[in-house]
Amino acid sequence: MLRIDDLTKAFGRNKAVDAASIVVDKPVMIGIIGRSGAGKSTLLRMLNRLTDATSGAIMFEGQDVTQLRGAAKRNWQSQCAMIFQQFNLVPRMDVVSNVLHGTLNRRSTFATMFNLYPTEDIHRAIEILDRLGIAEHAPKRAEALSGGQQQRVAIARALMQDPKIILADEPIASLDPMNAQVVMQSLRDIHEQDGRMVIANLHTLDTARRYCDRVIGMRAGRIVFDGTPEQLTTGVARDIYGADETFSEAATSTEIETLSEEVAKLADIAESV
Ligand SMILES: Nc1ncnc2c1ncn2[C@@H]1O[C@H](COP(=O)(O)OP(=O)(O)OP(=O)(O)O)[C@@H](O)[C@H]1O
Ligand SMILES: [Mg+2]
Repeated sequence: MLRIDDLTKAFGRNKAVDAASIVVDKPVMIGIIGRSGAGKSTLLRMLNRLTDATSGAIMFEGQDVTQLRGAAKRNWQSQCAMIFQQFNLVPRMDVVSNVLHGTLNRRSTFATMFNLYPTEDIHRAIEILDRLGIAEHAPKRAEALSGGQQQRVAIARALMQDPKIILADEPIASLDPMNAQVVMQSLRDIHEQDGRMVIANLHTLDTARRYCDRVIGMRAGRIVFDGTPEQLTTGVARDIYGADETFSEAATSTEIETLSEEVAKLADIAESV
């Protein structure tokens, strides 16, 4: 279904992604983990053609998407919708209009300028919001919603494109643990119920283990692990994060207790200086 072959992205002499190869034969839910700078965002950005690859190929259903131009490239971009850490909504616009923005690439400039949306699109937007449990917020401005609700609006906008793949770059990194769970569960439900492929860059190991069928570990641009959550042992995780024996999984955890421990530690350090 999706085959990534020797994909490389170089920025000068730095290879942000270095000969990555991934084969996906059915629409699974994949989590990509690795420390900051490992190349996770660059890999996703190449997949949806926000960034051009330096070399290598991305084959989707028999077509090399790295070669697509013009309308074919835009069509690909609507087939693999992207969700970002910062939601990227229009803050002062109402929720339902933000969702309808997901249909932009198939509407005329004229219709866009005058905010003319077909009634069936508006109904569909409301249905999608309902499915995500936020239909009651449809008339509100996006900025009036909590972070978790805004991220669900961003997911709704992505669904409006009816994508085959949803790419999520750290979708829960700005959310509290409770909202993080709701958003991850929404992505999981979309994957299971609609059969869409989901590829998410995740900060924390426990999230990848809990929600994904497959986990890919990146280190310095290279794929150093590709397996099931069960195969992702503490030793393997240590290797992915390039850490020594003092590495603890808690350091990559979203649990509230762990966070408060970290805060306490920082407070101790602050006191001692
Ligand atoms: N536009 C750019 N120009 C130059 N270097 C870049 C650019 N984008 C990314 N890089 C470099 O590529 C490497 C990989 O960056 P990338 O953002 O993909 O990492 P990441 O795994 O997503 O990290 P994080 O967890 O912090 O988001 C880093 O060394 C980064 O500095
Ligand atoms: Mg990133």
